[in-house]
Amino acid sequence: MDKIKIIGGKPLDGKIFISGAKNAALPLICASLLTKDTVTLTNMPMLSDIRAMNSLLEQLGTKIDSFNDFIDGHETKTYSYRSKNIDNLVAPYDFVRKMRASYYVLGPLLARFGKVELSLPGGCAIGARPMDIHLEALEKMGAKIEIRNGYVYASSEGKLKGAHIIFRLASVGATCNLLMAATLAEGTTVIENAAKEPEVGDLITLLNEMGARISGINTSILTIEGVDELHGAIHKVISDRIEAGSYAVAAAITRGRIELINAQPSLLQTPLDILRSMGVKIEEKENGIIVDARNAKLTGRDIMTDYYPGFPTDLQAQFLALMLTAEGASMITETIFENRFMHIPELLRMGANINVHGHASAIVRSVDKLYGAPVMATDLRASFALILAGLAAEGETTINRVYHLDRGYEKLEEKLRGVGADIVRVKDND
Ligand code: UD1
Repeated sequence: MDKIKIIGGKPLDGKIFISGAKNAALPLICASLLTKDTVTLTNMPMLSDIRAMNSLLEQLGTKIDSFNDFIDGHETKTYSYRSKNIDNLVAPYDFVRKMRASYYVLGPLLARFGKVELSLPGGCAIGARPMDIHLEALEKMGAKIEIRNGYVYASSEGKLKGAHIIFRLASVGATCNLLMAATLAEGTTVIENAAKEPEVGDLITLLNEMGARISGINTSILTIEGVDELHGAIHKVISDRIEAGSYAVAAAITRGRIELINAQPSLLQTPLDILRSMGVKIEEKENGIIVDARNAKLTGRDIMTDYYPGFPTDLQAQFLALMLTAEGASMITETIFENRFMHIPELLRMGANINVHGHASAIVRSVDKLYGAPVMATDLRASFALILAGLAAEGETTINRVYHLDRGYEKLEEKLRGVGADIVRVKDND
């Protein structure tokens, strides 16, 4: 397995191009299953999760073409999906095990073909992450759901039926799955307590571009009037707010200055406000953000994760690492996932001062220095928190299990080297 080596201690300075959002792209890819026409997605990130979703669709029968594109002189991908001849309605264990988001095929396949077999994803490093909200809502729409041998067998006699659904939790995944299912249902579906994350908004935009009738975008009540069929569309994926937030922290933790190009500041208001209140200068541009922490004396802040527009759980680990270098004590509280502090034991090995209270809260106290160490993380965002700590630390940090990072950070070393970081990937056989 590859490793990443970092020699820390250098303030970063320069520009980083922010890629298209992975978490928007994954449901958008699956939305293409709702039509026999071609759906083209631009500003797509080149990531292992996207490749995994593409292979799953190819296994179902989707034809995919890819093109290289340029935005502001930076290479991006465009993919065209043509799901005219779908001849397989099974999402097998091997795909779902590697990428939970495989479950996004459930809503569209059930709506268009009336039948799906999906391996249940099971728990993961950050928590149990059940699918009960997705399945109960589909049952309300008339689907028959059976769970056998680790698989969900979902079927519907005729079309799914519009229903009034109130989600127990504002789940991003369940909102996306239900939106896709309801577009082709008979009658009107109302989802209350829907997720308002920008990635959900991006899916609604694409579905409407494909001919769906969805209202309530960016609110917690969504109304979907079913239509007979959807058609093709060309759509640009929104920029990745979590990647942008991660590199904003890279500027702050190294007391450097980074201009985030192709970033959408409106999607990051809560994290940017926290950075400002800590003492980081933030300049918002129409299509970018300048993060300047040169010579700044940062002070710690308390953070509690929440549903959008609250503080995103996917930036909790990165901000926790930043608080180690800020004056005073900061309380970090995780409310979305039950087991999302796996980065803390590794940070302790780098000299961090953190006290964990139960599963949900951690007190982070500033330390004079972090020291490089060999570390490893169990999930994507926690791995990036270790990269950040390595960039701020004295000496060499080796991050193991790099495949987590490849799922969600495009050209990670290249982007960080471009702003002056001393970072290399060491191949297994080096
Ligand atoms: C998505 C994101 C993930 C992000 C999360 C919260 C993708 C691919 N992943 O994950 O990066 O951290 O949103 O912003 O977009 N829950 C249930 N039952 C369900 C569904 C969810 O109990 O049927 C719980 C989950 O265990 C979790 C909470 O609801 O505690 C929120 O999960 P959800 O919003 O569904 O997250 P994901 O869509 O899995």
